[in-house]
Amino acid sequence: MSTPPPYEEILDYVLIDADRLQARVAELGREISADYQADRDLVLVGILKGSMLFMSDLMRHISVPHNVDFMDVASYGAGVRESSGTVRILMDMKVPIERRNVVIVEDIVDTGRTLQQVLRLLAARRPTTLRVCTLLDKAERREVPVPLDYIGFTIPNVFVFGYGLDIDEYYRNLPFIGVVKPGLVISE
Ligand code: IMP
Repeated sequence: MSTPPPYEEILDYVLIDADRLQARVAELGREISADYQADRDLVLVGILKGSMLFMSDLMRHISVPHNVDFMDVASYGAGVRESSGTVRILMDMKVPIERRNVVIVEDIVDTGRTLQQVLRLLAARRPTTLRVCTLLDKAERREVPVPLDYIGFTIPNVFVFGYGLDIDEYYRNLPFIGVVKPGLVISE
């Protein structure tokens, strides 16, 4: 996509509107706050770039003290079967996580391959606890089992965009989750 069309031209329908998104994100924030109330030490690790809007809204609803950090990792395209199980880190996080409580913040879990590798990588750094919070779970596409502790919405097997999720690096700013029109070619 060289010049991106206005989103209305590629939007099939709005799957989750801004009000539902915000209400659920607030609930997730309250759940996480309750779960870490006793520990009062938490590190949120957002996986770039899709998690940035979710993270910025979620953290406003987390009432326990926490650090925020980000990692950028290369996810292998659909169809590529990476047997070594190593994720390519494009940008590592800086906050130390050894003996701390860590929650990975993801935009969407699809096959589960990216998250499986991030989990392996962070587990090797010996956090006390390691959990996952994903806004969207495309459960029927799962190829590898990954534990999801907090799930915003379970969605069907459709290609979505908005609220952090992109199509060719555009449309991340939209305040809702939309489904792309059938027939449009998406390079993941
Ligand atoms: P996985 O490794 O297959 O679980 O892929 C996860 C990554 O694929 C996400 O972090 C997204 O970057 C991307 N992805 C998967 N499904 C979608 C979608 O429907 N819209 C936008 N990006 C997606």
